[in-house]
Amino acid sequence: MKISLMDLRKQYEEVRGEVEPAVKEIFESQNFILGKYGSDLEEHIAAYCGVPYAIGMNSGTDALFLALRALDIKKGDEVITTPFTFIATVEAIINTGARPVFADIDKESYNIDPEKIKRRITKRTKAIMPVHLFGQCAAMEAIMAVARKYGLKVIEDTAQAIGATRNGHKAGSFGTMGAISFYPGKNLGGAGDGGMVVTSNKRLAERLFLLRNHGSTKKAKYTNVLIGVNSRLDNIQAAVLDIKLKRLDSWLDKRIMNAGFFSNELEGLPLVTPVTATGNKHTFHLYMIATEKRDALAEHLAVKGVDARVYYPIPMHLQPALKFLGYKKGDFPCVEEVAGKLLAIPVHEGLTDEEKTYIVEAIKEFF
Ligand SMILES: Cc1ncc(COP(=O)(O)O)c(C=O)c1O
Repeated sequence: MKISLMDLRKQYEEVRGEVEPAVKEIFESQNFILGKYGSDLEEHIAAYCGVPYAIGMNSGTDALFLALRALDIKKGDEVITTPFTFIATVEAIINTGARPVFADIDKESYNIDPEKIKRRITKRTKAIMPVHLFGQCAAMEAIMAVARKYGLKVIEDTAQAIGATRNGHKAGSFGTMGAISFYPGKNLGGAGDGGMVVTSNKRLAERLFLLRNHGSTKKAKYTNVLIGVNSRLDNIQAAVLDIKLKRLDSWLDKRIMNAGFFSNELEGLPLVTPVTATGNKHTFHLYMIATEKRDALAEHLAVKGVDARVYYPIPMHLQPALKFLGYKKGDFPCVEEVAGKLLAIPVHEGLTDEEKTYIVEAIKEFF
């Protein structure tokens, strides 16, 4: 049996009947950029996340970068983030000229530890960028309390966690801004790259609409009031995403059900299944198991046809490209420990009962 980590073709079969006419209509209108599809999606994502504003961008990376730009974060500033993330989080900070400062993670949730954030604050700290890793929210109440105490802004990296909640609030709605990724394999994935910033702050939303479009509005196209970038979400992406958004909660429910199945069935084996922090609805963007025998298990699963993958093997502070930051092995023991043990197994909404049982049996066979 072959079981892939994500099966976007199955998802597509569910939406094809709506996607194809919508895409056809866009081709017939030849209206690709900044149209009704984009603004409709912005309205729907804002409502979904429980905030008044959403601004489409052409990737999650740009959403993070422009959120920082909207706050005027620049050279000389510091932004505290987690060393356990995808490089885009850190790139966004560096590309503003600011310096990323890492704070170690909590070993159960794999998210940044609010207590460790406090120790990294200096006179230059301007913002905290927590990442809702693998699909569950970081400890946002404690992070917001630190931010309020020290007068810092918070940008939530919600790339992996649209739809996750914490104590009833949606990921992306806690901080000053939240940055979502619509990369095809994400919880809500487009037909290419895409991203969005969500916020309750009107002034920042207005700045973001300008920043993503060369500092100008569609109406006054050649009046540039800010130096921005070209990072608009195109209409084809917006149309596809809007159609998928209607199914997002039911897809997430299936992931949660699949995760529950795995956690029950794998109990008693020498591995750790994901821990959902109190108050969290984990969306299981990735279902991570932790074991000392990670690499051997990954090989065994590959032989059995199960697509299991390592996320993320090298913490950010040990990445060759970030050597100039001056960190070394041993600086963040929690992330260094878990990065050697974690393996993602398929959990997507299209898994059949037979496939789920096969995955469990393959893991049991290994141990
Ligand atoms: C945690 C995290 N942050 C940021 C990004 C960047 O998103 P994108 O690929 O849409 O630029 C990703 C995904 O790739 C991610 O996983």
